[in-house]
Amino acid sequence: MSKKPVILTGLRANNELHIGNYFGALLPMVDMAKSKSSEYQINLFVPDLHSITTEIDYSKLQKQILTNLKVFVATGLPLDDSDVHIYRQSRISAHSELTWILDCFTGFGEMSRMTQFKDKKDESNEVSVGLFNYPVMMAADILLYGAEYVPVGDDQTQHLEFTRDIAQRINNKFGDIFAVPKPVAEQHKFFAKDQGLRIKDLANPDKKMSKSADSDKGVIFLQDSPDAAKGKVMSATTDSLNKVQYDTENQPGVSNLLEIYGLIKGKTAKEAEADFAGQTQYGEFKQAVADEVASFLENFQSKLAEVNEQAIMDKLEASETEMNTQASQTLLKVQKAIGLR
Ligand code: ADP
Ligand code: TRP
Repeated sequence: MSKKPVILTGLRANNELHIGNYFGALLPMVDMAKSKSSEYQINLFVPDLHSITTEIDYSKLQKQILTNLKVFVATGLPLDDSDVHIYRQSRISAHSELTWILDCFTGFGEMSRMTQFKDKKDESNEVSVGLFNYPVMMAADILLYGAEYVPVGDDQTQHLEFTRDIAQRINNKFGDIFAVPKPVAEQHKFFAKDQGLRIKDLANPDKKMSKSADSDKGVIFLQDSPDAAKGKVMSATTDSLNKVQYDTENQPGVSNLLEIYGLIKGKTAKEAEADFAGQTQYGEFKQAVADEVASFLENFQSKLAEVNEQAIMDKLEASETEMNTQASQTLLKVQKAIGLR
């Protein structure tokens, strides 16, 4: 195992990414990779086996995996840093093997209580055992590399708690097998500034911007044409108070636009508010936000077009070889402990 402590997170691949994902997850992850790789090993992987836990368009999965990796590189992920690793879960068979072993130490009741499973189960009429098993594979993803810190959104903290539980359970039974990730409260402290940002849906600012929204009208995808994105901003839901003010309670739509404008310009929403002091018409304000969004997308998309796919493939190959070695060592320890070797 590497001498450096590990920070690890998975980047889901079965969706087109939007500016909420960008500012709430991609950018903080890339910044973290850049700033922490001198002290930590950074594992950013594509959980492609998790992508098939619900029914998807399988014909698009392979392309989506590469697209998401390209998006990361366009966001600034360095490929030439030997402490930053990118890899595909399905290419390292220890993930599947450890999942099975952990399955045999996991309670049926314990998995039935996982809220993400319960929510998704209610959304669809066919539920796979893979979906039920999702958190166990996530635990394997983390424990194989002995990750200390695991940045995830709020909806994933229950899975992280489970990871700690199962690691401790195995350690209690068989001795020191797994490094246990830090408790969630400590993770929050460690990633303090990156937590909690929620860009809202432009058409429905009481909800977060999400790829699973009923309509795309309020969602700005990173691959939207700048003109289409402008149109979405211009028709964003606001209010009739006619003042450009950051007040999420009473003016969620306006506040969301201020937030987006601020994120692009590198300002807080409160600072962004000052740029529109005294304005009483939303037309001009929206136009300014729309222009910023359009130039942000133009800039981003030109970086995306320049990403060298071969460089990504080379990096994947190097990382997958090295991570395979690390993961196999952990797997072997477990196999020996339970008598399989
Ligand atoms: P979606 O709701 O679009 O399906 P995911 O649940 O796949 O998004 O989230 C992927 C990552 O993006 C998570 O880390 C999540 O916290 C972040 N994220 C998702 N939506 C937003 C948003 N509207 N604002 C900020 N961050 C977001
Ligand atoms: N479940 C995570 C999500 O939906 C993705 C993921 C899979 C992950 N395995 C992981 C995140 C391991 C962190 C660590 O966002």
